[in-house]
Amino acid sequence: MTVKESVLQALEKNKEEFLSGEELSERLKVSRTAVWKAIKALREEGYPIEAVTNKGYLLMEDRWRITEESLRIHLPARYKNNHIHIYDTLDSTNLQGKRLALEKADHGTVIIARQQTAGRGRLGRSFFSPREGLYMSLIVKPDFDLSRSVLVTSAAAVAVAESLEKVCGADAKIKWVNDVFVDGKKVCGILTEGINDFETGQIETLVIGMGINTTLKDFPEELLEVAGAVEGAYSKSELAAEIMSRLLDLTERIEERTFMDAYRERSLLLGKTIKVYKGAYKVDLEKEGIGVPARALDIDDDGGLCVLYADGTREVLTTGEVSVKL
Ligand code: BTN
Repeated sequence: MTVKESVLQALEKNKEEFLSGEELSERLKVSRTAVWKAIKALREEGYPIEAVTNKGYLLMEDRWRITEESLRIHLPARYKNNHIHIYDTLDSTNLQGKRLALEKADHGTVIIARQQTAGRGRLGRSFFSPREGLYMSLIVKPDFDLSRSVLVTSAAAVAVAESLEKVCGADAKIKWVNDVFVDGKKVCGILTEGINDFETGQIETLVIGMGINTTLKDFPEELLEVAGAVEGAYSKSELAAEIMSRLLDLTERIEERTFMDAYRERSLLLGKTIKVYKGAYKVDLEKEGIGVPARALDIDDDGGLCVLYADGTREVLTTGEVSVKL
């Protein structure tokens, strides 16, 4: 780690109080001049570091800011050298992920944006992506059968929920198949897209996109009924790094399905009466009468939702949309 990275890490860990140049130089075992140079370089890169005589340095709270460097600090050694692409504004991190994948981007490449102008949701919907959200996509080229993309989406939901709990202290639940809820409101949506190899007809790469609301500041009234946000004084870099490494770990051993117990434990649906919407492509679920009532019985190890209809028939849903009254 360079002196600059070590200084940034020390300031990130010490957000509440000032750290003097002397303390930093002792902790990091480098000269005061080296500390000063590192602070100067970080400030030139735009880090809001306050310097007060006789007190020292303080990294001002800017939890929205993610840089390649701040993300790497939080990544475990095995993912520290992964490719990281960070943008202020993108049409969609999933679209960018697909573009990069066509240019042969590596497994484990991550794309992050602070806002999206054409955020993509499931079933042909758009995903509202105003400034200050956390929009990230991960390129995954694993050696498992990629037709099981519902499993990958389930793994992503577990990775997001566990990361929100660890980094933000949130009690995160999962609504089949891909929504993460906190306090009864949707705080994260997940969209997994595949890229076909035209020669073999096989899906060769997955782009797993996750959009987390971190503020509701710019949300229109009609979305506020369902949308929630994970607010608070956590580091967005830490959250992104946690999600990325958990999800990469899970995709390494997806066939073991070890995460499915965690998925079921966090499920918002099990045992509840729900409505099943079939062929819900671009459909407004709020319209009355199109959902079929059913009881959510279980989620199988392939991520399928087992439901029981009023006429006694059972079905395992592998895609589509359901709603539940919370
Ligand atoms: C849904 O709730 O329907 C899924 C929403 C997925 C949104 C994320 S944000 C990051 C990535 N880029 C996109 O365009 N979509 C996904």
